[in-house]
Amino acid sequence: MEGVEEKRLAKWVRLCGVAEAPAPGEVAEAEAEGISVCIANIGGELSAIDNWCPHRRGPLGQGWIERDCVVCPWHGWSFHAKTGVAVSPEGERVEAFPLRVEGADVLIDIE
Ligand code: FES
Repeated sequence: MEGVEEKRLAKWVRLCGVAEAPAPGEVAEAEAEGISVCIANIGGELSAIDNWCPHRRGPLGQGWIERDCVVCPWHGWSFHAKTGVAVSPEGERVEAFPLRVEGADVLIDIE
């Protein structure tokens, strides 16, 4: 319809408590509404990406941090913690979820 802008609706859900979030330099697995998420802490800043590596579904939340990336524990594919774009190999990616902290809760937008 003319003049009607299609707006993306956000759906913020609780991922975990701030106290349960990983410490700087660490990653963890968490779940929100049945979605398995890798939550990373880089320099005190939290971010969230899909937990399942597109290679063979390795659990990224059991991997580790290298610079700004989460490294898959199975074969070493590496994804930028904020964008989900793979640094190695190029051309791959996982979904990245907008994240915000509200009070004692870590929320992500799963829409
Ligand atoms: S499953 Fe992640 S690199 Fe192979």
